[in-house]
Amino acid sequence: MIIAVIGSGYVGLVSGTCFADFGHEVICVDKAEDKIEKLKNGQIPIYEPGLEELVAGNMKAGRLSFTTELSDAVRKANVIFIAVGTPSRRGDGHADLSYVYAAAEEIATSLNGFSVVVTKSTVPVGTGDEVERIIRETNPNADFEVVSNPEFLREGAAINDFKRPDRIVVGLSHERAKSVMTEVYRPLYLNQSPILFTSRRTSELIKYAGNAFLAMKITFINELADLSEAVGADVQDVARGIGLDNRIGSKFLNAGPGYGGSCFPKDTLALVKTAQDHSSPVRLIETTCSVNDQRKRSMSRKVAAAIGGDVRGKKIAMLGLTFKPNTDDMRDSPALSIIQALQDKGADIHAYDPEGMDSAMELLEDVTFGSNAYEIAKGAHALVIVTEWDAFRVLDFSRLKDKMVTPVLVDLRNIYGKDEVVKHGFSYTCIGRPDEEL
Ligand code: UDX
Repeated sequence: MIIAVIGSGYVGLVSGTCFADFGHEVICVDKAEDKIEKLKNGQIPIYEPGLEELVAGNMKAGRLSFTTELSDAVRKANVIFIAVGTPSRRGDGHADLSYVYAAAEEIATSLNGFSVVVTKSTVPVGTGDEVERIIRETNPNADFEVVSNPEFLREGAAINDFKRPDRIVVGLSHERAKSVMTEVYRPLYLNQSPILFTSRRTSELIKYAGNAFLAMKITFINELADLSEAVGADVQDVARGIGLDNRIGSKFLNAGPGYGGSCFPKDTLALVKTAQDHSSPVRLIETTCSVNDQRKRSMSRKVAAAIGGDVRGKKIAMLGLTFKPNTDDMRDSPALSIIQALQDKGADIHAYDPEGMDSAMELLEDVTFGSNAYEIAKGAHALVIVTEWDAFRVLDFSRLKDKMVTPVLVDLRNIYGKDEVVKHGFSYTCIGRPDEEL
């Protein structure tokens, strides 16, 4: 198979590289010349564990190449994946599909022989129909099928998620496209990864429904965390207790400061809009969005309470800025809302993140950045763990205590147990666990 992937971002670059690793010939396309030049030199523009080696190996094997020339790539390819960004549209939260439609129009002019055009970007229900209309109008003689194939990879675990997926979802309506897509995913098919073939609109809805359900599950345990604090229960044991029911499952029940990232916030909002547009509102997801937004800011109140109520003029050291560990992605990170809320109350913010500093410096103002936890702890009135990087799981508390004005730890990811922190003379605030051991 010769595969063209349009858009070399988090999804396109990982998908293209993994398709090449399956043995297909893959051409990754992007308009950004500097990004393509870096990729041609083996430089990866995103932080994704294992990706650099995988790209290098497949380029060396001659299966993976990068170009800005979309038309050449499309002319050669049997399958063209659209993996461009679909950000939230400014102001109204609908998905911005301008990049998808522009790609569809450009693809249409270069189609050569029977081609399968696949939307891999997360797109609202009905987008495949619109892509098909654009291609047919632009090139009435083209022989093609438009297929939906949403991606379920998580940042920081992208390669593993792509190569060992729980399932592959393919939305189509004709046999010709089905045999092509079966060939594309043959290596996974042989590994017994289930492939669900369904209609295009159903496939598009599955993607949103999956992300919205996971976002709702996280928000559920976050609200139970607040209730646990009120009644003196332990939310980690609540999560364990309900997660042992295999109808619920133990994953995505870690209470925290709220979900962030490039997907959950954008996809939940887009699903709400799609549902409202079709007069069939998804009220549970509407509530999920508003609860999550409020939660991220409310974490600042937890920090203020931990240092006696007033943060004005106090130095607060933030450990972790990215929306989760093992990524450099700052999009909709809880840290952004928490820092803004604390600065609004007059706090002096110092921050460190193992991978997210470059992105954070573009998004945050009046924040002092340090190169490790101990540097930013110097003179701090509180240390706040926002992202559960492994580096923050082995902090030297006696060394930290010597540097801080007041030994206060606010652990928004429940990395530590209370005892192991208190014995070093720290006060300890966390999520959903009682102050006194029951
Ligand atoms: C998500 C989906 O998991 C993935 O299938 C989809 O393709 C893209 O969106 P991602 O956004 O990369 O992946 O990260 P994920 O690991 O799902 O975490 C999303 C957010 O939820 C993060 O802010 C994380 O901190 C938070 N989270 C996750 C929790 O607060 N608690 C949990 O138990 C799990």
